[in-house]
Amino acid sequence: MNKKVCVITGSSSGIGAASAELFARRGWDVCVNYSKDATAALRVAQNCKSQGAEVLVERADVSDDAQCISIAKRVEERFGRCDVLVNNAGTTKFVDLKDLAGLDAADFQRIYAVNVIGPFQMVRAFAPLLGRSAKAAVVNVSSIAPLLGGGSSVAYIASKGALNALSLALAKVLGPQITVNIVAPGMVDSPWLKNGLGAERFAAMARSYESSSALNTLVSPEDVAETIYYLGAIASKTTGEMHVVDGGRRLGR
Ligand SMILES: NC(=O)c1ccc[n+]([C@@H]2O[C@H](COP(=O)([O-])OP(=O)(O)OC[C@H]3O[C@@H](n4cnc5c(N)ncnc54)[C@H](OP(=O)(O)O)[C@@H]3O)[C@@H](O)[C@H]2O)c1
Repeated sequence: MNKKVCVITGSSSGIGAASAELFARRGWDVCVNYSKDATAALRVAQNCKSQGAEVLVERADVSDDAQCISIAKRVEERFGRCDVLVNNAGTTKFVDLKDLAGLDAADFQRIYAVNVIGPFQMVRAFAPLLGRSAKAAVVNVSSIAPLLGGGSSVAYIASKGALNALSLALAKVLGPQITVNIVAPGMVDSPWLKNGLGAERFAAMARSYESSSALNTLVSPEDVAETIYYLGAIASKTTGEMHVVDGGRRLGR
């Protein structure tokens, strides 16, 4: 009951998994969430447990409000507290930006449901628990996509822009008890792009990304997790801000 608790949506893979493992390594208990891949979630949970963390594994689709409410209830029953909520789960459809006919309203609605409405529902479900913590934080995982006007699809770019705006509004609404900040990763070496683009296109895009970034590198899930940990566990006078982790891609060469 005395250890701090972090809930991370979409933590069966990539950035979310690296974040769960980092919080566990630094002495937190964690809730690992996923929507489909139980085997991957259990693997992450095992890694967290081996660091001494107590772990709750919860299957829930963040686009479903009842499932968000259910995770909050289960976290309260198991841990009696939540200090940090990381809204990391996200989805997209890979559509060339010039292919306007490749996206329809249903695509926008599905992507917004997970990337924008999901974080709102999670914050609403967890606000009472977070409000009881002496140092509570929400970290929303966005992207550099809305800063560049580039990314996996127009709908995805727009959804992350909406998530940024939502984060600012929530930072005002939830202050002074709860901070709300944004992490905006660049191109991350995670299953997301490898699965979405295929190995060959991923490799070509990685070469192009590196050659146009000041630090000549992609970003790892662990790099993003460090910033999530900082904004969630350490920063106390920062709210409504965005921290870009892009290897200097926005700056360029
Ligand atoms: N990869 C990049 O280059 C990149 C760049 C910028 C921003 N981001 C953002 O970073 C976040 C994580 O991306 P990643 O690269 O770590 O992706 P990833 O490796 O594909 O992991 C995505 C995670 O989200 C979960 N998930 C998907 N839909 C969900 C839903 N509706 N409810 C709950 N969980 C759900 C997945 O679990 P299941 O498979 O079980 O559903 C998985 O755990 C996303 O918000 C993404 O937009 C990624």
